[in-house]
Amino acid sequence: MTLDVARIKGDFPLLSRKVRHDLPLIYLDSGATSQKPVAVIEAESDFYRLHNSAVHRGAHLIAEEATDIYEGARIKVARFIGAESADEVIFTKSATESINLLAYSLGQSDTKSSFHLKPGASIVVSELEHHANLIPWQELAKRSGASLRWFPATEDGRLDLSNLDQVIDSSTKIVALTHQSNVTGAITPLSEIVKQAKSVGALTILDSCQSVPHFPVDVRELGIDFLAFSGHKMVGPTGIGVLWGRKELLNQISPFLFGGSMVTSVSMTEATFADTPRKFEAGVPNMAGAAGLSAAVDYLESLGMEAIHQHELSLNDYALAQLKEIAGLRLIGPYENIDRGAVFSFTLEGIHPHDVGQSLDDRGIAVRTGHHCAWPLMKKFGISGTTRASFYLYNSLEDVDRLVEGIYETQRFFTARGL
Ligand code: ALA
Repeated sequence: MTLDVARIKGDFPLLSRKVRHDLPLIYLDSGATSQKPVAVIEAESDFYRLHNSAVHRGAHLIAEEATDIYEGARIKVARFIGAESADEVIFTKSATESINLLAYSLGQSDTKSSFHLKPGASIVVSELEHHANLIPWQELAKRSGASLRWFPATEDGRLDLSNLDQVIDSSTKIVALTHQSNVTGAITPLSEIVKQAKSVGALTILDSCQSVPHFPVDVRELGIDFLAFSGHKMVGPTGIGVLWGRKELLNQISPFLFGGSMVTSVSMTEATFADTPRKFEAGVPNMAGAAGLSAAVDYLESLGMEAIHQHELSLNDYALAQLKEIAGLRLIGPYENIDRGAVFSFTLEGIHPHDVGQSLDDRGIAVRTGHHCAWPLMKKFGISGTTRASFYLYNSLEDVDRLVEGIYETQRFFTARGL
C-alpha cells in the first residue's frame, strides 16, 4: 500500500500554514519533532473537555473514564511494539527520562544482581548516540566505577562492529545503543550485537526515538531487554515518553521517582512499592498525553508501519540520487539506501550550516542545523555541525525537489556574494 501523501498532509493543520514571504511550509524537521494530526490534537483536547480527572484514585465516573483512557493507551502501545503485556510499558515524560530512569535504577541494583555495576564492569554505547543515550551512561559509569566503552562510527556514519567481541566482553553489563542515528540515519544491525550481549549476560537497551515512528518495531523479535522512545516524534504529543522492559527485569529494578500512586503501604519511616508499571509512575501522570499518544498509535496503524517504511525508502532513493549530484555537498551518513532512514545530514563546502538553515528557512523549508545533540559524532567527522533534513510520512517527492532546489539556490546566493 502506498501512502496518499496529499491526503495525509491534510490531516496535519500546521502543514497548511504559510511561513516566511507567505510561502507554503516544507517541514523537514521531523527528527526533532513530528507534526500532529487533528485526531491527536482532538484526543488530547477531548480528554480535558470531557474526561479530565486523576487516574487510579477517584471514586467517580469521570475518574473511571480517565483511568480507562490512560490504561487503554498502555495496552495499545504494548501491542504496537509487540510487548508481552501492558505491564511492561511505563509512561514517562520523554525518552530522555526513560533512559535516565533506567540508568538510575540499574545503578541501584543489588550487589548480588547479575547486572550490578562496579569497577571492572563496562557499559557499552556508540559514537552515534545523541546526548540522551550517552550522558546518563557516562554518569552511571562515574557513579559506579564501571568503564564506558563505545563502538566507533564508520566513515559513512554507521556502527563499526569490527571489534564486536572486544567491545562487548565478559565485563559488559549494559549495552545501550541507538536503533537509528538521528544524524546519519544509519539503522543499527542488531542481531549480532544482541547475540554477543546475551552470550556475556549483558542487558541490551535500545534508544528507539528515531525508529519506532518510522518502521515496524517488535521488541520480542529484536530480543532486547529495554526500549525507550518519545511520543512527540511519532505524531503524538510532547511530554509523554515510553520505557518498555521485560517484566522480570522491571520487577528487579528499583523505582526512580517516589511519591503517590506507586506504593502498596506507607508508614512514617518506610514504604513498600507496587508492581510494575505503577512503581515507576509516581504522581499524577500525563493523562491527556496518553490519550494523544493512543490516538497517534491509531493514526500510524491506520496507515500501516510497513507502508510508512516503504514510503520513506522511496523518499531515500529519490533524495540520495539528487543529493549525490550536488557539488560541494558532503553527506554525513550512508550514500546507499540500505539500512538507513530518511534523514540527510550534510555540509556545503564554504557555507556554515546555520547560514544554510537560514537560507532554506527563507525559502519556506524548515530543517535543523547544528550538532543535533550529538557532539562526539560531530567531532568524529571533524565538523562543528550539519544541516539536517529529516522526512516523515507527510513528506512527498516534491518536498525533496524543494530541498534540492533550495540547496542549489543557497550555493548560488553565497557564491554570487563571494562569501
Ligand atoms: N531530538 C534531537 C534531534 O533533533 C536529538 O535529533
